Formats: sequence, structure tokens, C-alpha cells
Amino acid sequence: MQKVLLEDSAGLLVSFKLMKFLSRSAEETQIIGFSLGKLLKSQGVVCLYGELGAGKTTFVKGIAQALGIPESNVTSASFTIIVEYDNEIPLYHIDLYRIEKESDIDGAGIWDYIYSEGITVIEWAERLGKVPDDFIKVKFAIIDEVTRDITIEGIDEKDWNYM
Ligand SMILES: Nc1ncnc2c1ncn2[C@@H]1O[C@H](COP(=O)(O)OP(=O)(O)O)[C@@H](O)[C@H]1O
Ligand SMILES: [Mg+2]
Repeated sequence: MQKVLLEDSAGLLVSFKLMKFLSRSAEETQIIGFSLGKLLKSQGVVCLYGELGAGKTTFVKGIAQALGIPESNVTSASFTIIVEYDNEIPLYHIDLYRIEKESDIDGAGIWDYIYSEGITVIEWAERLGKVPDDFIKVKFAIIDEVTRDITIEGIDEKDWNYM
């Protein structure tokens, strides 16, 4: 784990916990999502960043599986913006790909989902602008056709290791 000290907007030093992974297949990306899903509490927000085809939806399948939702139920939410999974711990899968302005985000009631009971996972979280520090952030970078660099911010590596 890499601990990085950065200045926040108020100029205070904050420590960010970063975990880095190199995924060499869609299956591996799904397993990393599964591992994160197992660490989530009954309420929380996971922001996913990265271009088209980076592996965000694949990662959401892993999170869903960890919560007991069949991965085959999880498909791209691009056309619907929000998919709600009725589950012991509810899962809200949000995809902001089609959102163009921040006012559309408010109009679609996105923040109501984000702050409701359950877990909210947001693809194209870039569109949200700045988000609270307690949101987990996962950044995907495409290295080549089958390789993805995945950085998770906001999870302690010792929790990850003790699963
Ligand atoms: N290491 C990898 N991790 C995730 N997806 C991968 C990987 N290698 C290849 N792929 C492929 O890339 C695509 C990722 O699609 P998807 O998860 O829908 O991305 P996004 O939601 O970011 O647009 C899938 O076709 C998947 O098979
Ligand atoms: Mg997607």
C-alpha cells in the first residue's frame, strides 16, 4: 500500500490510502471488485473513474456478487442511468455516461440515491465533480487490450489482507 500525503482544498495535509493492482483479464478485474464488495458496510459509495471499456461494469459485477446478487443480473446501466437491485443490502448501480451537465445529476435525483441506505456504485464518477473524502474511489487505466491498472483509494490494505 502506498500512503500519500496531499494538500486538500483547505491546504491541510491529508493522507490517502492507495492500493494498486494490475489486472490481466476481465475475470481478475471482477475478482478485485468482489474483494472490495466483501469489505463494504451496509452503506457506502464507490466512485469508478476511467474511459469506455476500462472495466468499470466488470468491476461492478464483482461487487454485486459479493453482496449476493447474481453477476448475470448486472449489465451496463448506460441507458437507464440508475439500476436498483433489491437485496438484503440494496445496491444502486449508477452510470453517468449520458449525463452532460451537473444540473442533470440533481434533476435525476442522483444524490438521493447516493445518500440512501445501501451501496451506491457510480460509473463515470468524473461527471460528479468533487466528491466527499469518505467515498471510495477506484481508477481504471487501460494499459493494453487485456491489462488494466486499477487504483483503489479509501480502503486500508490491512483490511484487504485479512479477508
Ligand atoms: N483486465 C481487464 N479488466 C476488465 N475488462 C477487460 C480486461 N481485459 C479485457 N477486458 C474487456 O474490456 C471490456 C470492459 O468492459 P466494461 O467492463 O463494460 O467497461 P466499462 O464499464 O469501463 O466501459 C470487456 O469487454 C472486457 O472483456
Ligand atoms: Mg460500463
